[in-house]
Parts: sequence; structure tokens; C-alpha cells
Amino acid sequence: MNWQSDILTNLEWSGTIINLEGKQKVANEIATKVKDGDILGVGSGSTVYVALITIAKRIKEEGLKVKAIPTSIEISLFCAKLGIPLTTLFENKPDWLFDGADEVDPDKSLIKGRGGALFKEKLLISSSSKNYIIVDDSKLVKKLGTNFPVPIEIFPTALLHVEEELKKIGASELQLRPAKGKDGPIITENDNLILDARFHDIGKDMERAIKSITGVIESGLFINYNVEILMA
Ligand code: A5P
Repeated sequence: MNWQSDILTNLEWSGTIINLEGKQKVANEIATKVKDGDILGVGSGSTVYVALITIAKRIKEEGLKVKAIPTSIEISLFCAKLGIPLTTLFENKPDWLFDGADEVDPDKSLIKGRGGALFKEKLLISSSSKNYIIVDDSKLVKKLGTNFPVPIEIFPTALLHVEEELKKIGASELQLRPAKGKDGPIITENDNLILDARFHDIGKDMERAIKSITGVIESGLFINYNVEILMA
């Protein structure tokens, strides 16, 4: 990196990092899994951020040749700051991936997408054969949907059609996610909108049912994916 950038130098995690001690412990464990030549899928959220810093330290100290495929602009910027080279899914398949989650049920199914990067998170998790999901106790639920709605990324002009179809499959509350740093709704990194949807019951076929609606890019339901849960 040959920019002399104050923005990058001063870049820090924007919110409070809850349970930093627990996240750091798992970050150390994740960092030991990195091997020279690895292509890492890097998810989103504060847990990932803590792990990324620890991995970057190991890469630097041991001169490891590692590349990252990020799920968001935010993580791309942190990789640039930390000196971790980036690559893409055009060039490389991830050897493994680490990410966080918003909810995990007893079957290891997940709700993800609080950060709005759910499409790339699902694309990466589907592309990688080994996936570590780092969560603490607060993310464990008996039933998906207990604490978080299901985020659904939608092609903008399909919004009202998708609303109608989601109601038919049991969505009871639908909220167009507002942006924090701009007026109006949040615009995802793929130029789409996000609807946060509550359902009375999230069955095993709900992910497929949501995805089958024309205009839905992706949902934050990850039912029966190949994941290993690491507890922070
Ligand atoms: C991002 O879109 C989500 O899927 C994250 O994985 C989730 O919000 C985890 O964030 P924390 O690690 O900050 O809890």
C-alpha cells in the first residue's frame, strides 16, 4: 500500500465491541488455523474485525502469503489498512472462511445480515468448503427469529411485489431498513434495498420460499449450511 492516507491510518471499528475478551480468545484460535498460501473468506462484523487484526499480526510476523476475499467495503478497507492483499472469486476459491452471525439455532442454522452484507456473506459461505462462525452466548437461540428479523435484500423496483409475496408466506412485520448516515432507506453494496421481516414461524423451507420470489436477491437465513460454530 503506497497511499499516505490519514483515512486509512485512522480507520477504527465504528461501534462498541461487546465481549472483546471472548472475541480475542477465539481470534487467537482462528489465527492459528492460517497457513501459508491460504485464501481466506472474510465475513463482516466486530467479531471478524478482531480476528482480522490477529490474523494480520501473524501474517506480518511470519511473512505468510495469504489473500483475503472480503464481504464488504468496510472489511476491504480494514484489509488495506492491515496489509492483507485482496483477491476475488474470479481468481480464487476460498480455502476457508470466518464470519459472525446474529442468531444460531441448535441445528447450527443462522440469521445473518445485520451489517447488510448478507448477499456476499452467503456467496462466500457457499463457495468455501470450511466455514467457521464465531458467536457468543447472546447469539444462541432455540428458534430463529427470536431476537432478530430476517433481512432480505431486494432489487429496488421489486419492493412492493416482494412485500405482497412475503405476506403470503407468513411475514407479519416488514420494515424497510433505514440508513443511518443518509436520508431514506439503506442502499446495499449491490445497490439494493433491505427489508427486515418477522415471521411467526421459520420452517426449514423458508429460505427457499423467500428466495423464490422474483426481486429477492438474497435472504439472511442460512439453513443447514456447512458451518462449525466457535464460541467467543
Ligand atoms: C453481518 O451482516 C452479520 O451477518 C454479522 O455476521 C453479524 O452482525 C455479527 O456481528 P458482530 O460480530 O459484531 O456481532
